[in-house]
Amino acid sequence: MEDAELVCPRCGYRRKADLWSWICPRCGTPLQVEVSPKGSISWDKWRRRKLGVWRYRELLPRPRRIVSLGEGGTPLVKADSISRSLWVKFEGANPTGSFKDRGMTVGVSLALEAGARIVGAASTGNTSASLAAYASRAGLASIVVLPQGKVAPGKLFQAILHGAKIVEIEGSFDNALDALVKAAEHRIVYPLNSYNPWRLEGQKTIAYEIADEIGVPDYVVAPVGNAGNISAIWKGFKELLEHGLIDGAPRLIGVQAEGASPLYRTWSTGSENLQPVAEPETVATAIRIGRPVNWFKALKAVHESKGFLEAVSDKDILEAQKLIARRIGLGVEPASAAPLAGYLKLVEKGVIDKNSRVVLVATGHALKDPGIADLVDSESIRAGSVDEAVEIISSLARSLDE
Ligand code: F0G
Repeated sequence: MEDAELVCPRCGYRRKADLWSWICPRCGTPLQVEVSPKGSISWDKWRRRKLGVWRYRELLPRPRRIVSLGEGGTPLVKADSISRSLWVKFEGANPTGSFKDRGMTVGVSLALEAGARIVGAASTGNTSASLAAYASRAGLASIVVLPQGKVAPGKLFQAILHGAKIVEIEGSFDNALDALVKAAEHRIVYPLNSYNPWRLEGQKTIAYEIADEIGVPDYVVAPVGNAGNISAIWKGFKELLEHGLIDGAPRLIGVQAEGASPLYRTWSTGSENLQPVAEPETVATAIRIGRPVNWFKALKAVHESKGFLEAVSDKDILEAQKLIARRIGLGVEPASAAPLAGYLKLVEKGVIDKNSRVVLVATGHALKDPGIADLVDSESIRAGSVDEAVEIISSLARSLDE
């Protein structure tokens, strides 16, 4: 990584790139990567390659071996049945079903480069699934630290299936991350949480792909948990601006669940320090986080882009999840429906004009977190025999046809 530097977004500390440095030694803020581009950059050149993370390789770190499962290149689906200039970037279409794969292809490739044999992450679920899969692909071992009893079954199953060693900890993701950070200090485990700035380099390609496909929208709306992804998306747009590939940037909107909204609280009170939430709680378990490690970067991204933060209720999240599924045809997990809930709230408040061009980042697939028991009870009708089923089908069809 000789052609990259690490920079602190808070105090300006700067050092030569090092794959084992992640946090500013002066102020404790996660560092940011600055890669000098290798070779010329143009949309024309990029568009001759397959859509996906590595299409943009000139602006990414350059490991000798790339560990890939074909991540990125996700559908950008027009959601005009909800609003005329609305799109959903469906990150659930990534190999393990979430946007984390964009980060892991870069992060795990660099872990190999760094000589690591074991990769690790604390996780609300998706990071663990992605880490475990990419570690398997690379021939590395993986260890994941999860908040006990709070990880959606689909994600836990993936981590187990791909052979990760699993440590469950009492409390929330924040406790899991504390443990992982401490363990990583001993350099036995290479950490791939979003305080590792190298992983976020892969995630910034969400911005590249949006601009590549539809140019610059007015707003990009993303769910916020540990706050790495919104920071990465902003970094992506800023880089496109710096290289003259776009003329303007979108305003970024970060959406949190009301019961886990430390960043929204910090932003709305104008505080210079994070306002943590001691016991975060929400149905959107992916973003059930009280002390986001990238809070400073994310607030900076929101301010620089002239964006906002918003908080939405669990009820609104679940309604938005059904709306995306039934009006657009995309199945997303609760956290990934938070952007739609936030968008609808901001349109209703008159903060966003409904004619604005808006992209919602739908971060993870519905199958991650099925919540099946409740839905089956409330949405199905039981039949005791074939004849009874035929009767029910006919009467349902008649009522739907009216
Ligand atoms: N959406 C989903 C589906 C997620 O899994 C996450 C984070 C986010 C949004 C928020 O992204 O943390 O960068 O602000 N999941 C992490 C995990 C914490 O462990 O899987 P963020």
